[in-house]
Amino acid sequence: MYGSKYLRFRSTSFSSPFNQKMTSLKSISLTFLVAIFAVLWACKHLIGFNPNSKYLKYFEDLGLTTSSISPILSLLFPYSINFNARHHKKKDNKAKKASICDDFPPGIPPPDTNTTSYFCVDRNGCCNFTLVQAAVDAVPALSQKRTVLWINTGIYYEKVIVPITKPNITFQGQGYLSTAISWNDTANSSHGTFYSGSVQVFGANFIAKNISFMNVAPIPKPGDFGAQAVAIRVSGDQSAFWGCGFFGAQDTLHDDKGRHYFKECYIQGSIDFIFGNARSFYENCQLVSMANPVAPGSKSISGALTAHGRVSNENTGYAFVNCFVGGSGRVLLGRAWRPFSRVVFINTTMTDIIAPEGWSDFNDPTRDQTIFYGEYNCSGAGANLTMRASYVQRLNDTQASPFLNVSFIDGNDWLQPINAN
Ligand SMILES: *[C@@H]1O[C@H](CO)[C@@H](O)[C@H](O)[C@H]1NC(C)=O
Ligand SMILES: *[C@@H]1O[C@H](CO)[C@@H](O)[C@H](O)[C@H]1NC(C)=O
Ligand SMILES: *[C@@H]1O[C@H](CO)[C@@H](O)[C@H](O)[C@H]1NC(C)=O
Ligand SMILES: *[C@@H]1O[C@H](CO)[C@@H](O)[C@H](O)[C@H]1NC(C)=O
Ligand SMILES: *[C@@H]1O[C@H](CO)[C@@H](O)[C@H](O)[C@H]1NC(C)=O
Ligand SMILES: *[C@@H]1O[C@H](CO)[C@@H](O)[C@H](O)[C@H]1NC(C)=O
Ligand SMILES: *[C@@H]1O[C@H](CO)[C@@H](O)[C@H](O)[C@H]1NC(C)=O
Ligand SMILES: *[C@@H]1O[C@H](CO)[C@@H](O)[C@H](O)[C@H]1NC(C)=O
Ligand SMILES: *[C@@H]1O[C@H](CO)[C@@H](O)[C@H](O)[C@H]1NC(C)=O
Ligand SMILES: *[C@@H]1O[C@H](CO)[C@@H](O)[C@H](O)[C@H]1NC(C)=O
Ligand SMILES: *[C@@H]1O[C@H](CO)[C@@H](O)[C@H](O)[C@H]1NC(C)=O
Repeated sequence: MYGSKYLRFRSTSFSSPFNQKMTSLKSISLTFLVAIFAVLWACKHLIGFNPNSKYLKYFEDLGLTTSSISPILSLLFPYSINFNARHHKKKDNKAKKASICDDFPPGIPPPDTNTTSYFCVDRNGCCNFTLVQAAVDAVPALSQKRTVLWINTGIYYEKVIVPITKPNITFQGQGYLSTAISWNDTANSSHGTFYSGSVQVFGANFIAKNISFMNVAPIPKPGDFGAQAVAIRVSGDQSAFWGCGFFGAQDTLHDDKGRHYFKECYIQGSIDFIFGNARSFYENCQLVSMANPVAPGSKSISGALTAHGRVSNENTGYAFVNCFVGGSGRVLLGRAWRPFSRVVFINTTMTDIIAPEGWSDFNDPTRDQTIFYGEYNCSGAGANLTMRASYVQRLNDTQASPFLNVSFIDGNDWLQPINAN
């Protein structure tokens, strides 16, 4: 099987279905592996809930979970190694290319229909495009038809912009642990946090499935300026993300504006790692903090999951329902980046990484009257409401009802089932 040579080199015990799946990856880079490793390392600290133990086993088998690799340092590796073993088997270029494309799935891209066009992206050059941006550029402007970009396994090192003139685009990856778009701009290198996104989506009706968005810039050290590094900025209305990964540290997911849906997504970061002024519904997602641990007994805060930026009584906010919160550090559920910040956590399990006060008004008590921070029916050590800040709302059924399902984002008007397109 493809890639199995490399894996066998390190382990003789790849027999579970999961491992078979991992060994079938066409190619994968070290940067991607270590970035994922960082997340799974954080998961290792979780007590009683470890959905990724099978992944962790995989990294242990690879010999990556040694104490010499800290999750923080691991993202600093700026290079990638292609584990594409087949390169060594062929001498002749033509033969190599034929070989790489041998196991390309048949029937990709599928024929166009009257409502959908299909483009294919493969970094080995096995189909229409080798870069995601090239495929986006080829989508006709203002098309009412949906264009599905089928993106093969691999890391796409490029900065991608979906302009406002390109609505109705779908990024279809092969799994959030095997397909990713990654870049490493920072606030400094891109003249502002808002421009640092590896992917920036301005077009409406954007959909992403089974793909990751990463920013692999160095993780900010305490006191650093200009090191914020966004993985994706989502600024188009009516966007949906299914089974996606979001990997970064400070400011990972710029959930900027519009109505957005996130289902079964994996979101990693340290400080303000979901921020912006969108109206978004997060369902069955995992929020994994990789903030620095604090000394036992210390009251200091090392991170925050959200920094919602509502500026008035407008209808924006983040609702997290049936989610899981864990990882490392001593962190806040949210802090009031703008005076009307609005965030609720519903039916969500939280580990003890959540500081007892839970939330911050950004040291501006005048915001206590206008922020809306609510919790409803959450569980776990981090969900203990006893010591919460005074302005936090313990929502009753009536207060919780606007946030319980996709009607919060008018999903009944626009959100299609996952397999619709
Ligand atoms: C598009 O195709 C569907 C079925 O594939 C068909 O029901 C529909 O009438 C077609 N629409 C147009 C405008 O051709
Ligand atoms: C993609 O490749 C297929 C197969 O070669 C071809 O039929 C199709 O026109 C190409 N699409 C684009 C947008 O280049
Ligand atoms: C395409 O985008 C336009 C504008 O965002 C939207 O009105 C339309 O419903 C979309 N069509 C499809 C097929 O998603
Ligand atoms: C991004 O990575 C490249 C290649 O390693 C490096 O030259 C560049 O300085 C990095 N950019 C930032 C902002 O760290
Ligand atoms: C996403 O990946 C999961 C797990 O590999 C798979 O079961 C599912 O069918 C995929 N869905 C889409 C829409 O790609
Ligand atoms: C960003 O730029 C400022 C001003 O040039 C500099 O002081 C700071 O160290 C830079 N930050 C990083 C993370 O490179
Ligand atoms: C909360 O989770 C339970 C299962 O643990 C489920 O039955 C219930 O519908 C969930 N509530 C909401 C509002 O999603
Ligand atoms: C509250 O959470 C429990 C599980 O922790 C679940 O069984 C119950 O259905 C939830 N209630 C509501 C109203 O969602
Ligand atoms: C919640 O926290 C308070 C104060 O720290 C503590 O006394 C109480 O036992 C905790 N409740 C639970 C269920 O852990
Ligand atoms: C829920 O809380 C609101 C605001 O405090 C209050 O007006 C309302 O009566 C409560 N509803 C129930 C059913 O307790
Ligand atoms: C969503 O929640 C609202 C308010 O609680 C409720 O009226 C509506 O029936 C729910 N819709 C679905 C699809 O569950």
